[in-house]
Amino acid sequence: MPLWRCVLNKQKGVLFMAQLYESEKEKRKTIIAEGKTKIIERIPREPRKVRVINKNELTKGDGKDRISWEGKGAFSNKTACNCFRYLEYYFRRNNMTVPTHFFEEYDDYSFIAHRVTMYPIETVYRRVATGSALKRYPGLKEGDLFEVIEFFYKDDAAGDPYMVFNEETEWYDLYDSKKPVSPETYLGEVPRTAFMPSKEQLDTIALYQGQIFEALSKAWADEGTVLVDLKCEYGESLDGIIMLSDDVNADCCRLWPFGDKNQMKDKEVFRQMVGEITPAQKAILNKNYLWVVETTSRFPGNNVTT
Ligand code: C5P
Repeated sequence: MPLWRCVLNKQKGVLFMAQLYESEKEKRKTIIAEGKTKIIERIPREPRKVRVINKNELTKGDGKDRISWEGKGAFSNKTACNCFRYLEYYFRRNNMTVPTHFFEEYDDYSFIAHRVTMYPIETVYRRVATGSALKRYPGLKEGDLFEVIEFFYKDDAAGDPYMVFNEETEWYDLYDSKKPVSPETYLGEVPRTAFMPSKEQLDTIALYQGQIFEALSKAWADEGTVLVDLKCEYGESLDGIIMLSDDVNADCCRLWPFGDKNQMKDKEVFRQMVGEITPAQKAILNKNYLWVVETTSRFPGNNVTT
């Protein structure tokens, strides 16, 4: 009898494992991509759309340092939806065409977006000198007003090098992002196999980045906050249309209420925290992200409650 029970249990165990394995395989089938802070999922019978799910992770140091807490993903999601809705409203009102991948908010943690192929590029617009810009432009000091659009090649292991289009080779050169651009800081080319925009497409991305920054900085200014800089990512839709993709939230820009760096509300607060994050520090981060959600909810085009 005990032997029989043992065999049965073993069989049940095998069955259970097989079911687990199948559900894991099913889950994998629906996931198109998974990054440090997001999961992109397929939508059944909707090949042109995806679901963008925000995780509860907050990372720094190219993902080497991370914390997570319940609700963080919802803050990112709500902020992104508020910003995308505002951009849609702003561009429509101003008769401008700046496509974004945003389709609609789905739930607390996710939104529906057009399916795109992402370019491995981070595009940054800066209006106030701070952060890594101070290393590349030694003539600038913190807080100086200037304007620049920069490109970085997404490569965590290489520290996201600074990227410049080379007219001679008609391809992209990479430089150490922590030093001024010079022959000494040249790191090589972007791999020729990478999915990159043409020069004309890169010019379109630069144009969009300026228009997106202009739109968002106006909304932030109306709330008394300076949008210091903004990082965006772009992709190409199935029809070859360049779209603002990924997220727009407090982790990809710098926000200085009243232009005062000491009051910053963005991810830089986390970057500057050293060592183990204490519950009190987590509470500060939580409060900041909530403030960003509440503020962006007041951006025009968002007649939804938070
Ligand atoms: O560090 P740096 O000054 O180059 O950052 C410029 C802007 O880009 C900041 O708003 C920062 O939060 C954002 N950024 C980002 N992801 C990175 C690097 C920078 O969102 N990997």
